[in-house]
Formats: sequence, structure tokens, C-alpha cells
Amino acid sequence: MDKFVITGGAPLNGEIATSGSKNSALPALAAALLTEETVVLHRIPRVRDIRTMERLLVDIGTEMSVDEETVTMQTARIVSPEAPYELVKTMRASSLVLGPLVARAGRARVSMPGGCAIGARPIDFHLSGLRHLGAEIFQEHGYIEAVAPNGLKGTEIVFDRITVTGTEDILMAAVLAQGETVIINAAREPEVVDLAALLTKMGAEIQGAGTSVIRVKGVAKLGGATHEIIADRIEAGTFVVAGAITGGDLRITGCVAEHLGALVAKMQSAGVKVTTPDATTVEVQSGGALHPADMMTEEYPGFATDLQAQYMALMTQADGISIIEETIFENRFMHAQELMRMGANIRLDGRKAIVAGRSQLTGAGVIASDLRASASLVLAALVARGETVIDRVYHIDRGYENIEAKLSGAGATIQRVE
Ligand code: EPU
Repeated sequence: MDKFVITGGAPLNGEIATSGSKNSALPALAAALLTEETVVLHRIPRVRDIRTMERLLVDIGTEMSVDEETVTMQTARIVSPEAPYELVKTMRASSLVLGPLVARAGRARVSMPGGCAIGARPIDFHLSGLRHLGAEIFQEHGYIEAVAPNGLKGTEIVFDRITVTGTEDILMAAVLAQGETVIINAAREPEVVDLAALLTKMGAEIQGAGTSVIRVKGVAKLGGATHEIIADRIEAGTFVVAGAITGGDLRITGCVAEHLGALVAKMQSAGVKVTTPDATTVEVQSGGALHPADMMTEEYPGFATDLQAQYMALMTQADGISIIEETIFENRFMHAQELMRMGANIRLDGRKAIVAGRSQLTGAGVIASDLRASASLVLAALVARGETVIDRVYHIDRGYENIEAKLSGAGATIQRVE
């Protein structure tokens, strides 16, 4: 198992380029199941979750070729409409094939996701949405089976709470349903908008993506398309925090600055000198005094839960007390214990973390527990005195492309060891 060895203390300077969005690429890959024609996707980040999704699609029957960050796919026939436990247990987003498979093949068999490091994370909203569209759902032997032999029928679907992949899954089912589907309380995340853009290029009729009401007029067939995935706002945001926590002068390029609005505003209120000189660049400048600023995670356009752990690492370096509230997942504070091992002063109280800074962090042996938790440990290590060894970096490899190369290019001392 790989580890990162990081020696802290150096400010990050220069430029880091953003990769394509993992959470946009995952549903886009699944969308290729909706047509027998060729779908070409550019800017697919080469991270482990993407490789897992690619393996899943090949098992289902997709012919695929990968050329650097371009993936070309054709699914002439669905050979096996199934997502097995072996893949679902390593990546919950495998459930994104549910909607496309039922829509295209009238049948899907997907392993139920179990517990996960950040909470229970059920997929009941995906299932009730499919049920409303006319699918019958059975659960047996740890698998969910959805069947709709006569196709799906458009209807009104109201999500009890906002779900990102649930919205994407149901959107992909609705595009081939008969008649109109209205999704109410839909997720407004940029990844949903990007998926809708791809589906529209494939011939789908979708209105309202990016708002909480999405209307879909079902079509009989979808065709091929070529599409470039949007920039990864969470990766970009992680680097923005890296610039701030190390007190460097860092430009993050190739991102969508607008997608980072909540993070940039919060960091400005914490005293960080952060600006967006143009639509695709965010710049952090040294010299700001870091103050504590309370933060609560919210659905987009609020502060992303996927940046909460990174923000917590930053707040350990602010002078004073900040309160961080996690409202999306019930158990997403695993990084707090590890940050404390590095000298942070954090108290957990249910869904709140009370961070008292500024702490001089010191290098220690720590364990990465999930993707974003690992990112927060990397950030803490960059500012800690001495050497930090982060174990189980396979978590970070799920969603960050070449993070050690990107960080060392900006002056970090980080090494991957086996
Ligand atoms: N929920 C349910 N039932 C459902 C679906 C969701 O109770 O059927 C609950 C969840 O347990 C959670 C809340 O609703 O408490 C929101 O979950 P959501 O469905 O929005 O999360 P997701 O779609 O499973 C995506 C991202 C996550 C990101 C969340 C929230 C992908 C592949 N994953 O997950 O990304 O944290 O939205 O923004 O898009 C990550 O990249 O590290 C990551 C975890």
C-alpha cells in the first residue's frame, strides 16, 4: 500500500492546473449506456474511481478505448445489466448505471451499497424515483433488481432531500421515458448541469438543469456525442486551500471560478487574499492574516461538503475559534481525529466541529480514511513542522489526479513510497 511522505514548511508558489471533474465524469461515462452510438468524452481525469467505472461499463458490454484523457465508448448491446458487489463496495457511484440500464435495457441488477466512511448513504431516493417512473424494484441477496419490461413512463418526482447522484440517475432514466418527467427539488450542482449538457448533445430534451425543477421530454432514442467534462471544482478548491494554508502565492488555472464562489467568499471573510482574475483562474496571495470564520456545508451553491475537511485543516491555522457544521453527511469528521494527532485542537459535538487555532502542527503518522479526509491531511502536512507519513493513500488516488506531481511542481516536498 502506498504512503505519502511529506515535509512541511514550504509555501506553495506558481501555478497548478485543474483536471476534469471526477464527479462529472462518472455520470457522463454511465450516460454512454443510453445509446448504441459512439460517445467521446474529453478531459476524463485518470483517477481510480474512473477506472472502476470504466471496468463496470466494459463488463456491461461497452467497447471502450482510452487515449490519455479521452475515452471513446460504444455500447452496441447491453450484455450484462449488472453492477456487482466487488465494484459497488469500492465505489458507491456505481449505482449511476441503474437509471441508464433500466431506461435502455428494461432491467438492472445493482448491488446494494453498504455503509461507507462518511455515513449511511442509502440510495432509496434513486429507487423511489425509478418506481415512480414505472419500474418494479426487488431486493434480494444484497442486490437491487429494477425491471421495466414495457419501458418507463414520465411522471412527477419529488425528492425528499437534495441528492446529486439521485438527480443524475433519474435524469438518465427520464430521457428515454415516454412523455414528460418533472424532477422537483433537484440538485443544482454544476455536475448535474454538465450531465444535462451531454445528454442534450445526445438528443435529449431537458430544461431547467441547474435549477431545482428539471423538465425532461422523453425521446425514443439517443445518439452519439462528443463532450468535454468541466473542471473539478473540488480539486481546484483543495489547491486554493493549499496556497492559503502554506502562505504562498499560487494560481489555480483551468477551473471554473464561478463554481468556487462559496469557498472564495468564505476564505475572503477569513482574511485570505484570494481573487478570481478571470473566469478560469483563482489566485491566492500571501500576506493575509488568517482569522477564524464559521462555516456550514450546504448543497450547491453553498459551501461544498467535499471541501469541509480541507477547510478544517485551514482553520487549525486561524487565530481563534471557528465552528464547522456538516449538514450533508452524518459522519464526515474522520479527519478531525487525525488532525488532532498532528497537534490540532478540535472538539466534536455531533455535526459540529469546534476548531481552536492557531496550532503549530507537527508531522506524525496518520491514516487516510476517505478521499476528502486524505486531502485535508495532505494540507495539514504541508504546514506541519517535520515529516508526516500518510498511510492508505489509495483513498486520495480515487479522486485526485497526480496530486503529488501537482503539489511538488509548486514547491511542496511530497513523495510517494510503497
Ligand atoms: N441520501 C439519502 N438517500 C438517497 C440519496 C441520498 O438518504 O437515496 C442522503 C445521503 O445519505 C446524504 C444526502 O442525502 O446524507 C446527500 O447525498 P447525495 O445523494 O447528494 O450524495 P451522492 O450523490 O451519493 C455526491 C458526490 C459526493 C458528494 C455528495 C454531496 C458523486 C459521485 N459523489 O454523492 O462526492 O459529497 O454528492 O455533494 O457525485 C467525493 O467526491 O468525495 C464525494 C463523496
